[in-house]
Amino acid sequence: MITLNQQTKIPQHVAIIMDGNGRWAQARGKHRVFGHKHGVKSLRKAIAFASEKRIQALTIFAFSSENWQRPAQEVNMLMELFFTVLGSEIKKLHKHNIKLKIIGELTGFSTRLQKKVFEAEKMTEDNTGLVLNVAANYGGRWDITQATKKIAKLVAAGELDCNDIDEELVSKAITLHKLPAVDLMIRTGGDHRISNFLLWQLAYAELYFTDVLWPDFDALSFQHALDLFSGKERRFGQTSEQVSLKNTESN
Ligand code: IPE
Ligand code: IPE
Ligand code: MG
Repeated sequence: MITLNQQTKIPQHVAIIMDGNGRWAQARGKHRVFGHKHGVKSLRKAIAFASEKRIQALTIFAFSSENWQRPAQEVNMLMELFFTVLGSEIKKLHKHNIKLKIIGELTGFSTRLQKKVFEAEKMTEDNTGLVLNVAANYGGRWDITQATKKIAKLVAAGELDCNDIDEELVSKAITLHKLPAVDLMIRTGGDHRISNFLLWQLAYAELYFTDVLWPDFDALSFQHALDLFSGKERRFGQTSEQVSLKNTESN
């Protein structure tokens, strides 16, 4: 059966690297923090847009495993912003039937922030609308490593035979495994790299890079990415002829 989303070629799962906050602020003679605060406004818009378009899941990169290396003042401020925004937005997210999930190494955060995350996830866990995954203290390498550990423990306990490890089993140990694979990955801020975001999950994603800095990213920019996505032929290793034939058969 073809779902509405497949007919209109709306991606089911979109991931975003929200980059360019610092440069946006510096271009205005302000401190980088000013850019992060404005970035929250863009995030609100992106969430509303994704909900409206009936995108199933939106995964955003908020803080990478490597971002701890920034000046302490910026890191502290980002943690404070994360705490405040979680507090101020969670009721609105809940009202809009959005299910919030934080992915990443949560133990790296203060207990106060971990508690806030736990409460926020709990409040929205039964919601059935957009799934919003916030990647915080997340790294694609960390994700693959934690999956490897889970599998190794099963083997060590004699519950799993090494020969039974296949891609499906690894997929199930990686974060976001209950969601469709990422269809579209957007990166703002002009750089063409993954920066240790979802490595496993991006295997067949369409990649969209824009020079727009995150605080300037709005519904129009998001729509532009969706328009380009809908024009893509996704072959997943097959030939163009095979894909066309399959599409004719299913129509
Ligand atoms: C992305 O914006 C936000 C985070 C990494 C938290 P940046 O802070 O990286 O902004 P630029 O890339 O320096 O402009
Ligand atoms: C990636 O942005 C991380 C987030 C958006 C949270 P960075 O600005 O940290 O990426 P690099 O270091 O320039 O690759
Ligand atoms: Mg950056």
